[in-house]
Amino acid sequence: MSAPEFPATTERTTLCGALRAEHVGSVVKLGGWIESSRNLGGMAFLSLRDRAGTVQVSFNPDFTPAAVIEAASAASLESVVRVEGTVALRPPNMANPGMETGAIEVRATALTVVGPAESVAMPVVSKGSNLPAEEIRLRYRYLDLRRAPLQANLILRHRLMQATRKYLDSRGFLEIETPILTKPTPEGARDYLVPSRVHPSEFYALPQSPQLYKQLLMISGMDRYFQIARCFRDEDLRADRQPEFTQIDIEASFIQAEDIYALTEGMLQTLFAVAGVTVTTPFPRMTYADAMERYGCDRPDMRYGLVIRDVTSIFARSEFGIALSAIAAGGRVRGVVIPGGAALSRKRVDEIELVAKSAGAGGLIRIKCVNGVVDGAATKTLTDEARAELKLVEGDLMVLVAGPDHISNPALDRTRQDAARRLSLVPAGANELLWVTDFPMFAVDPESGRLDAMHHPFTAPNPDDMSLLESNPGHVRALAYDVVLNGTELGGGSIRIGDPALQRRVLSLLGVDAATAEARFGFLLEALSAGAPPHGGIALGFDRIAMLLAGAPSLRDVIAFPKTTAARALFEGAPTAIPTDELTALHLKLASD
Ligand code: AMO
Repeated sequence: MSAPEFPATTERTTLCGALRAEHVGSVVKLGGWIESSRNLGGMAFLSLRDRAGTVQVSFNPDFTPAAVIEAASAASLESVVRVEGTVALRPPNMANPGMETGAIEVRATALTVVGPAESVAMPVVSKGSNLPAEEIRLRYRYLDLRRAPLQANLILRHRLMQATRKYLDSRGFLEIETPILTKPTPEGARDYLVPSRVHPSEFYALPQSPQLYKQLLMISGMDRYFQIARCFRDEDLRADRQPEFTQIDIEASFIQAEDIYALTEGMLQTLFAVAGVTVTTPFPRMTYADAMERYGCDRPDMRYGLVIRDVTSIFARSEFGIALSAIAAGGRVRGVVIPGGAALSRKRVDEIELVAKSAGAGGLIRIKCVNGVVDGAATKTLTDEARAELKLVEGDLMVLVAGPDHISNPALDRTRQDAARRLSLVPAGANELLWVTDFPMFAVDPESGRLDAMHHPFTAPNPDDMSLLESNPGHVRALAYDVVLNGTELGGGSIRIGDPALQRRVLSLLGVDAATAEARFGFLLEALSAGAPPHGGIALGFDRIAMLLAGAPSLRDVIAFPKTTAARALFEGAPTAIPTDELTALHLKLASD
């Protein structure tokens, strides 16, 4: 990455990490942190760091007053110093080609310790190895953020944010802020609630997303809105989920899904280019039904094959009990062929099976093809013809799950991911973007038959499926879409319901009675009756985009002050107990009191 342009200040002429051979001869004033220091027979060398990088500063009786050499030698690591000196080429035997400033050094004439580091609670590790445990790094986040890799992530995040604004501004989108103290919006997670002091027993909710506001803005005629919006969701956390996170939130009027696809593709292409990653548009598309059938999940990782096959018809002709009873109960026999998997030891395949079991499968049926023989407990009862229909080639391992799709889909999804990782089937540097389209409108609970919104309740049904809305709601497709990168959901959106009568009907199918609908969403229903343009949009997980482009394993690496997976902020110590008098002022009493 090229060194940033940086205006000089009264205290500093340039950044340490920005110095190059072309600056030789310049007199500079620097400010930075002492990353390392060496003392060699009357001379001293400091490695001075700022956010642009590090530079070597040398202190030598030939050009440095004795008192300055003494001060440099005495200064503790991680102290902040101001240095004045002249940029000079390093002697050839001391040049360091592995360092961006490695051709030069600053020959110091003056040094002032302006921020002594009297105690540094944890080592600041510049090279990334032997890092302190993450808990400690999060506790001392201001020290962890001194590390170059984290600084690079935040700089990338900043650039992505600026590029987002520029892209959307140039396409007529207005950046409009919406409230943080709001009313619950249903996005499927629990709300964070904020008690009202002036209205006893009443609460604000922090927004799970600005969904309803952005729709209201369309009804107001703002036409194209975006916001780099902070969202709050009280849900189980994982590496790619934080309780507070940032969305690139978009809504537009007089558009259809195709317009959102084109806009999003252009924006992601622009953002990826910021990180030096080239992606081609348009992105491939796959329906939800195909994604579930072929990959067992709605956000398939397309960087490798391992496509799910349905071999029910082959096993229906076998005498293999597990398969036959699953088929008799309305299930299927589906699985993946793992090329080269036959060479995996029994222990390794047992481990893959454990993954499938932890996702709900009873077990994996295993079939190998070794020395031209297709073999496994399940194949003994297959005819030669049926065995040939499995179409296995030398070295293949086929693993199958017999059962209903709601069991086999998650199990095969996890199996696929685990096998790809074990056999290194994911090509380095590959990026596979995908639209998943035609999501069902409702998720149907297999036991109770209860309907839940698959995206959110404001998503429009596909007009072609309207006739099924009452008779077979589970089969109604929504005008909803997700964009997926390498198996991670980057974003999702939909065309919205514009007709208040249809919105009421959908809410009622979701089990929201008329009174509750008025109480919770009355303002939207009212607004929809006041002249609503056709509208739709999308929200992209900004932290996820930054994480994937930074090549970071966790969202915590691209958020300045993240929460732990237990939703704690270790640095400032939140959440925290509140004194009783403050609770009383909020009209609250703890159940434990
Ligand atoms: P959705 O709920 O799909 O849609 O969220 C959009 C995107 O936000 C990101 N995301 C998260 N990122 C980090 N931590 C989390 N806990 C988290 N939850 C979600 C994901 C996800 O794809 N209002 C709709 C959008 C719309 O319909 O326009 C919405 O919020 O990358």
